[in-house]
Amino acid sequence: MNHLASCIFACTLFLWCILDEASAFRWDAALRQRSSLSVCEGQNLTIPWAFQLDPGEKAEVFEWQRKYGLDAALTITISEVKDSGTYTVIASITNAKNKKKKYTHTVSVLVLVSPATSDGRMHVAMLPEPVIVGSGTEVDYHARLSCGTFKNLGHPPVTVVWTLPAGVNMASTTYQNGTFYFDVPNPVVSGLYSCEINSTDPALDCVDRSSDLKVGDSVFLDGTDIQLKLMNHKLQAERNVRQGKLEKERQRQEGLESKLNQESKKLKDLETKLRHEQSVLETKVDQVEKKGNGFSDCKEVQGLKKMHWLTSSKKFSLRIDLTDFHGKTAYAKYDSVSIHGPRHGYKLVVSGYSGTAGNGLMKPVRGQTLKWQTSNNQPFSTPDHDRDYCSCNCAAERRAGWWFYYCAQVTLNAPYTHKEVSDVNRLVWYPWKKWKTLKATEMKIRPKE
Ligand SMILES: *[C@@H]1O[C@H](CO)[C@@H](O)[C@H](O)[C@H]1NC(C)=O
Ligand SMILES: *[C@@H]1O[C@H](CO)[C@@H](O)[C@H](O)[C@H]1NC(C)=O
Ligand SMILES: *[C@@H]1O[C@H](CO)[C@@H](O)[C@H](O)[C@H]1NC(C)=O
Repeated sequence: MNHLASCIFACTLFLWCILDEASAFRWDAALRQRSSLSVCEGQNLTIPWAFQLDPGEKAEVFEWQRKYGLDAALTITISEVKDSGTYTVIASITNAKNKKKKYTHTVSVLVLVSPATSDGRMHVAMLPEPVIVGSGTEVDYHARLSCGTFKNLGHPPVTVVWTLPAGVNMASTTYQNGTFYFDVPNPVVSGLYSCEINSTDPALDCVDRSSDLKVGDSVFLDGTDIQLKLMNHKLQAERNVRQGKLEKERQRQEGLESKLNQESKKLKDLETKLRHEQSVLETKVDQVEKKGNGFSDCKEVQGLKKMHWLTSSKKFSLRIDLTDFHGKTAYAKYDSVSIHGPRHGYKLVVSGYSGTAGNGLMKPVRGQTLKWQTSNNQPFSTPDHDRDYCSCNCAAERRAGWWFYYCAQVTLNAPYTHKEVSDVNRLVWYPWKKWKTLKATEMKIRPKE
């Protein structure tokens, strides 16, 4: 700021002070500047403006100004909430020297409205259902009290104060549609719980002196009883949660079961299909065998087929028991036995001999003529299917189906003799009895463990 400007500012201030001192205008102290007044709805409020003048001074014009309007009277009639606001009066004064000056004064006015309930009283009650506070595992149950029912909360809106048995005051937990709610702290203390309009609420000034709204209401709570009820609720809720979980698990299992059923049905269908295909294939194989150089379906061949099927599914051992006409016995055991399929002419394959009868199926006894006489690894020959290596027909000569090579040193299928004779074409086991016939023979197979 330069010197000239500050000089003008100071001089103006000085002049103002002189002028002000010249007037004796004073506002009356009864209503101080910027004070607040309140009035109940429907009542008239007079704002008692007053001032003193010096002799020679006269008040010329008075203006009433409201925050949002203009009025021209000293006493105003206020009856509605919308009349609330700041009021200003302006006095225009002319002094003895005919100098004019304006003086202003303001006051704020609040129009109060009494709260009202549906029946002119307040009612406190406990809700039948507790409220759930918190979430997840931190859930807690509280008894909830209601206080109401307000048709309107007045102006400015009132709130209520709850008083607990211990005398503590607390605010409401929530308010909804004319009713204040209070969630009783746990553990619930037995005693009176009361609800009153907050005594500092200005709107209470407009409530009739005899009105029950000044009194409020209270309810007696039995702490033990309520605590039990809350516990029951909690248990029930937990039970519901558990049942919900169980139900979910049950549905999940049902889903799994139905899936399993579908899968097993698919498998069954597949199995049926495979069986059918297998039977078709078997029929075809049978037809090929009958047509080709296979065996006819005599009893022996059927037996061989079975043996083939058995020994190809599992490992089997073979035991042969022999009895001569003197009652003596001997045996030959083979650790492993298998009969090959029709394409291999039901070839016999044995191994792992032990026993007392001699290794008749595998080991040729000494002597040149017997050199080729093992049955091991030989196909099965019958009189009409000669598969041996002899220029003769071993099966026809011996009248027996057997695994012949250059014929054989043992033949257990040859015709029976009722007494001991020496005959190469009969029931014989050369390593034990040479060509003497046997009284009884047995071939048994059994699955190996
Ligand atoms: C308020 O003032 C008006 C106008 O002077 C008057 O008609 C009315 O009766 C008054 N009301 C009360 C409640 O005094
Ligand atoms: C009552 O009202 C006053 C003023 O609004 C407030 O300060 C006080 O907290 C209220 N009391 C309760 C218990 O709400
Ligand atoms: C509020 O309360 C009134 C009367 O008590 C009732 O008629 C109205 O349906 C309530 N409204 C809601 C939203 O609860």
